[in-house]
Amino acid sequence: MSLVQKISIFGATGSIGTSTLALIFANPSAYEVIAITAEKNVKELAKIALKTKAKYAVIADKSLHQTLQNLLQGAKTIALSGRDGLLEAAKIHVDIVVSAVVGLAGLEVTYAAIPYCKKLALANKESIVAAGEQILSLAHQHGTKILPVDSEHSAIFQVFEETNRAHLHKLILTASGGPFRQLPAAEFAHISVEKALKHPNWKMGAKITIDCATLANKGLELIEAALLFNVPADQIDVVVHPESIIHSLVAYQDGSTLAQLGMPDMRTAISYALSWPNRCATSVQPLNLADIRNLSFEAPDLERFPALRLARESLIRGQTQRIIFNTANEIAVDHFLNGTISFMGISKIIEQLLEKTSSKPLSTIEDIVDFDQQLRLKTKEMITQITF
Ligand SMILES: NC(=O)c1ccc[n+]([C@@H]2O[C@H](COP(=O)([O-])OP(=O)(O)OC[C@H]3O[C@@H](n4cnc5c(N)ncnc54)[C@H](OP(=O)(O)O)[C@@H]3O)[C@@H](O)[C@H]2O)c1
Repeated sequence: MSLVQKISIFGATGSIGTSTLALIFANPSAYEVIAITAEKNVKELAKIALKTKAKYAVIADKSLHQTLQNLLQGAKTIALSGRDGLLEAAKIHVDIVVSAVVGLAGLEVTYAAIPYCKKLALANKESIVAAGEQILSLAHQHGTKILPVDSEHSAIFQVFEETNRAHLHKLILTASGGPFRQLPAAEFAHISVEKALKHPNWKMGAKITIDCATLANKGLELIEAALLFNVPADQIDVVVHPESIIHSLVAYQDGSTLAQLGMPDMRTAISYALSWPNRCATSVQPLNLADIRNLSFEAPDLERFPALRLARESLIRGQTQRIIFNTANEIAVDHFLNGTISFMGISKIIEQLLEKTSSKPLSTIEDIVDFDQQLRLKTKEMITQITF
């Protein structure tokens, strides 16, 4: 492997994209940026392209193609746009692809990139939730290594002993519990968007911040863990750990439980994915347990946070239900952010869509994308018929 790593970042303008770029800027001689993408944030995309001297900059919103080209005037970066542009960028050979688009919009590029990269640093959990079987099989076929970027899965990846799989007791995912961990059930009806967007420990994009508040994010992570590590639902637990210092644990049958710890800063997990199988210095604050003093734990409350229960049920029922869970959640979160439905309406919508949609055979990525599109329409229609 050459010393300079060719890297493409899908979702470069987002929270994970920005943290990835911070690591690249801290170690510029180690990386050559090949492609960067965004949906609408054309100014930031062009700024990143000029700073990184990226070969390609792709704006998903086609109507912004000319704006991107104007902003890149005089630079060597090639401007691309739309779905075709994203897929073209995904098919350029690189060492590392960072998949950091939010939502199932990231599925097609993630899947398309697998044959063309050596390592896939995967933040886009929605892709694995909906199409884990297809993604893992393609990665296996092409010898592409999938490195989880989610801090919980990075933690498990770091302490999971494949040779002792037969003696695994449980994977234990930690959850901060979000901003409403201690909020009485009666007050859930009055949760505002502003309050839901205030995560106690992590700075993230809007969608995942709401997912953390409903615990749907932990549900998506439960599914992601089951697929990535090939472990059944009944061997995966969730424990609420408000300090977000232990990022997850693996318990073995001999009574040993191994954990990965660190400050809540996504640069550690991203750096591990970029540098694997090595480690690299970062400017993340080192962990000082004497300063932190106390680490606490409690069981998640499935009454106040039904999304976590629904995710587990979906995982057990199969791929169709996992897709329904994910799509219904994405649409419901959008509506909550727009003020059309209440906070508790999010899990209500997920539950209704799960109840009202039957399983169907899905084998290809095209099948999954089509099914997701149908579900989006169905969810939006359902939202107009329910009073929240
Ligand atoms: N943030 C975290 O700390 C964190 C931690 C663990 C896992 N993750 C996962 O990482 C992924 C990204 O999260 P994030 O918080 O970084 O999200 P984010 O801040 O909202 O950024 C999302 C990125 O995706 C782009 N994008 C959005 N919709 C798109 C579309 N339809 N087509 C193409 N590009 C699109 C955005 O472009 P614009 O800027 O133009 O909108 C942006 O670059 C999610 O799957 C999340 O669950 C995030």
